[in-house]
Amino acid sequence: MGDDGVVQQGLTAMTTAQRPVSLTGIKPTGAKSSIEHGAVHLGNYFGAIRPALRLTERYDTIYFVADYHALTTQRDPSTLRQNIYDVAATWLACGLDPARTLLFRQSSVPEVFELAWVLACFVATGQLERGHAFKDALAEGDAPNAGIFNYPLLMAADILLYDTQVVPVGADQKQHVEVTRDVALRINHHYGDGTLVVPDVLLTDAPLVLGDDGRKMSKSYGNTIPLFAPPKALRESVMKFKSDSAPLQAPKEPKGSSVFELYELIADQAAAAEMARKLRQGGYGWGHAKQELAAALEAQLSPLRERYLELRSDEAAIDAILATGADRARAIARRTLNRVRGAIGIG
Ligand code: ADP
Ligand code: TRP
Repeated sequence: MGDDGVVQQGLTAMTTAQRPVSLTGIKPTGAKSSIEHGAVHLGNYFGAIRPALRLTERYDTIYFVADYHALTTQRDPSTLRQNIYDVAATWLACGLDPARTLLFRQSSVPEVFELAWVLACFVATGQLERGHAFKDALAEGDAPNAGIFNYPLLMAADILLYDTQVVPVGADQKQHVEVTRDVALRINHHYGDGTLVVPDVLLTDAPLVLGDDGRKMSKSYGNTIPLFAPPKALRESVMKFKSDSAPLQAPKEPKGSSVFELYELIADQAAAAEMARKLRQGGYGWGHAKQELAAALEAQLSPLRERYLELRSDEAAIDAILATGADRARAIARRTLNRVRGAIGIG
């Protein structure tokens, strides 16, 4: 039981109350990296970053850049390097406060690979063969590398190393957290309950952001709007959103429209209700709605964009923030690993 307090001790240095630990990994894989626009799109922001940052109100939060996970697919060193700075600067610009949230690079805590090996000895290969990413790669006729095969194991080590209680993930990552739970339960069954903390999935009510074609905004569909697009490009992207060709006077249904739904995410309730009313009433066109949306996006995102450009221009400052986070993270990691080593009879 004493050991369970370890994470709390590690984090209460930064926060005042003892709260459950929430951890998530951020894969540094932009579609393409551009210092001006960053690697992140509006879907990532409203669907992942903003909800994750809101969790800091209720949890001790640990967010790390999963750089070694990216290596399964990202082989260009300069792109990987850029992406790591892009995502770190993005999260900081969006409001991540490194004094309240542990922020570091996965690769700065090599203890994770030691734990991954221990876990590997407790996971059946059949379970990894059923992994979505591995199965998809096989189905596409690829010859997946062992990194893709072992991806869920490294992710389990990421989670278990910090005595994580909840992992906020989207549906696509749920299976990985289930592997994590299974392996933790197996190890606890064998070595005793206090060996690892068994985490839960935290399903957030993160919204789904649609792209200009009405499909999910996603790098795979090429319909993304970069979070830090310059004002003109942002505006032009919004004006390209698909809308029906109802005449100006016709009443229009806001629900289900990518324009209105995005507006709902940024505007306050009263403003969103007002736009819905105008659309339903008629005499207010989609062009008007897009203009309001573009203006609201610009108002909300321009301070973030400015902060991003400033942060992104100083890689040494980002390194310093990540290094401070890594020191704190390693202290927690070492304690967990000592506990595990003791339990298994090594060390
Ligand atoms: P993409 O689909 O563009 O490849 P990723 O898979 O890299 O995006 O997603 C990173 C995070 O952003 C995930 O947590 C994912 O759930 C979230 N996300 C991505 N696109 C959207 C979207 N259109 N709406 C809401 N959340 C999204
Ligand atoms: N696999 C996650 C993704 O593809 C990233 C990730 C790595 C992660 N380690 C994690 C997420 C631990 C949550 C917890 O997006």
